[in-house]
Amino acid sequence: MNISIIGSGYVGLVTGACFAELGNKVICVDNDVKKISCLKKGVVPIYEPGLEELVKLNLKNKRLKFTSSIKAAVMASEVIFIAVGTPTLENGEADLTGIENVARSIAQNMDGYRLIVEKSTAPVETCAWVKKTISIYIKKGRKFDVVSNPEFLREGSAINDFTHPDRIILGVESQKAKQIITSLYQPLNAPILVTNIKSAELIKHASNAFLATKISFINAIARICDKVGADVKDVAQGMGLDNRIGRYFLHAGIGYGGSCFPKDLEAFINIADKLGYDFQILKAVRNTNEEQKKFVLQKIKDELWVIKDKTIAVAGLAFKPNTDDLRNAPSVDLVKALLEEGARVKVFDPKAMGKARGLLKDAIFCNDLYQAARAADCLVVATEWNEFKELDFARLKKMLKRPLVIDARNIYDPKLLKELGFTCIGVGRGNG
Ligand SMILES: NC(=O)c1ccc[n+]([C@@H]2O[C@H](COP(=O)([O-])OP(=O)(O)OC[C@H]3O[C@@H](n4cnc5c(N)ncnc54)[C@H](O)[C@@H]3O)[C@@H](O)[C@H]2O)c1
Repeated sequence: MNISIIGSGYVGLVTGACFAELGNKVICVDNDVKKISCLKKGVVPIYEPGLEELVKLNLKNKRLKFTSSIKAAVMASEVIFIAVGTPTLENGEADLTGIENVARSIAQNMDGYRLIVEKSTAPVETCAWVKKTISIYIKKGRKFDVVSNPEFLREGSAINDFTHPDRIILGVESQKAKQIITSLYQPLNAPILVTNIKSAELIKHASNAFLATKISFINAIARICDKVGADVKDVAQGMGLDNRIGRYFLHAGIGYGGSCFPKDLEAFINIADKLGYDFQILKAVRNTNEEQKKFVLQKIKDELWVIKDKTIAVAGLAFKPNTDDLRNAPSVDLVKALLEEGARVKVFDPKAMGKARGLLKDAIFCNDLYQAARAADCLVVATEWNEFKELDFARLKKMLKRPLVIDARNIYDPKLLKELGFTCIGVGRGNG
């Protein structure tokens, strides 16, 4: 099929490259001209494992193209995906300016039937607005359908998640739309759930809100564990062995972050409010998450007493491993809070240093974790990168002024580190 993807970020680019790999002719569009000129040369401006190789391969075999012209893309495609950002406005509402702009441009450039697939995460009823907008700006006689197709990929494993999804959700209104979109996804051989449009839109918000709830729940349990001397890892394992609960998203730590959970939770609370429902559970989830970041800061203070003029090494800045994405990263909030308290903060992240330089101007950027740890009063692990799990602890001990590790992601066994001469303070490990 000839398809185009409008918005070539984490979601749009992965979607475009994967559909090209499946044999479709794909045009990826973005209004960021610099991004498009990089992508045309096969240079991917974000870090996502395997993505650059896939983009290069499909550019070479001419199944993937890049442009900043929505017009050219709309003219050439039967199916048009919308994958632009939907950031949070100050009042918590989702900013749907990008979706509205794109819907208008699609309408103005359609020369025949088009299937418009809304993939950006947006509040329920967004597709109805897309449909209305297109109807206003479309030339007389042109036909179209709108489909809601929320995306569930995770940064860091986005290609595998796209090609091997647990499920594909399709919110449709017509048989024609259903036939086109299901045949596009058929080669993935994955479970497809077809619903009405509003249900599909709600599935995305409900799923993200539920996952965020699991994280805040286990973080609350971690607080109790610390108070009574229990180990949250054991508690989570014991809970997770129950199939009704499941073992995923039960990792206590510094709280969730990233470009999705905080934003989507906020948007869901906001839309629920507008619909006349006070979504108290989600408000508590959000508050617990905010408290968790402060809790880690308090753990550092409990060990170092005065933060001012202390040197603190922070390992990991990205909101999770295998990505360079810093959007709403709890580690960034932590570094900012430490800087505000007057600490010297030395930071290292395997992939996010470039993006972090603009964001954390007063931090000291180091080439590796050991350099960050040199002469530091403690090391804080803020992102659970695999390479941090297998350290040369003897070397680390020599570097640190004091062998103190605040393990905000629970990647170490505190007992093992104690044997190696460290004090290791985790989250909910019953040791402070
Ligand atoms: N990142 C994730 O892990 C993830 C997962 C599932 C769903 N989502 C959702 O997918 C959507 C996109 O997320 P993302 O992480 O890819 O965002 P992103 O910021 O990485 O990419 C969005 C892209 O859209 C472009 N854009 C914005 N307005 C445009 C316009 N009018 N015309 C053309 N291009 C435009 C931007 O320049 C940017 O390159 C969001 O709604 C997000 O919530 C994201």
